[in-house]
Amino acid sequence: MGMMAMAEENTTGFGHGKVILLGEHAVVYGHPALAAGIRAGVRAHVSPGSGSLSAPGWELDARIGDDSPPGQAVHKLCDALGVDGRALDVWLESEIPARAGLGSSAAMAVAVARAMGARTSANESDVLTAAAAAEMVFHRMPSGIDAAAASRGSLGTFTKQGGWTDVPLPKSFDVCIGVSGEPHDTGALVSGVATLRASTPVVDKLIHAMGELARAGTEALSRGDIPTLARLFSMAHGLLAGVGVSTPVLDDMVHTARAAGALGAKLTGAGGGGAVIAIAGDQADEVLRKWRGKGYYGFVTTIGHD
Ligand code: MEV
Repeated sequence: MGMMAMAEENTTGFGHGKVILLGEHAVVYGHPALAAGIRAGVRAHVSPGSGSLSAPGWELDARIGDDSPPGQAVHKLCDALGVDGRALDVWLESEIPARAGLGSSAAMAVAVARAMGARTSANESDVLTAAAAAEMVFHRMPSGIDAAAASRGSLGTFTKQGGWTDVPLPKSFDVCIGVSGEPHDTGALVSGVATLRASTPVVDKLIHAMGELARAGTEALSRGDIPTLARLFSMAHGLLAGVGVSTPVLDDMVHTARAAGALGAKLTGAGGGGAVIAIAGDQADEVLRKWRGKGYYGFVTTIGHD
């Protein structure tokens, strides 16, 4: 199909939301992390237009290239793909809350890059490069794990040096995701850990231990050992709280999940608000009920979906 015909068309792209099972923050320092794309995500629709950028579900009504972070992010992404964003409209349908630790910004970046990339001859590597340029606007020093999970949608380990490697799962399993309702700023949290690490060198050992938990979790998962993974979750939460990225609400959600029968629970993603993840086996409904009783929204998602 010729470029002229393509330029007239509407194109769409999808990016998955993600949960980090183990290794958030440590991944910024070159350690491994274990993450999974979830079914829910963001769909971008791109059509010929005049540079509008809207996401009704996030109450976003911006313009490509304006001063807003999404406006800047999509502008950078268009530049990376060699697309003129001023001649296009972008409309986003989101199934995940923004700034909740579920990778909404990376899911948006991948979705828009795919929809834009469908108008050119962009391949998946071009899409990831463009998404990374957008993520820089939101997070300043992203490891790349969110964009990799948003594009792959699978379970995998990620390092900054080696990128994403799928982890085969003997059997899928369910996790409970709880959304704190406290919005957070991933860039500020990553900077906060960097500042603490600079002033308190022993923090590096905690960060190293988080990476070790991610390795141990990957090994447990490849054996299908979910109870061990759950215990590692609780250990990781302690370390993440230790480097200052938990909040009283996240701690309460983790403790509530465990009191309701979860085998393990932790904050997921950057922390400072956002979301928690719990492994609760047949107590998943009870965990959601207890969270709901305290005003926290939660849902169950399957890791290792097809
Ligand atoms: C955010 O989902 C994960 C962090 O490790 C930041 C990053 O890796 O870019 C906190």
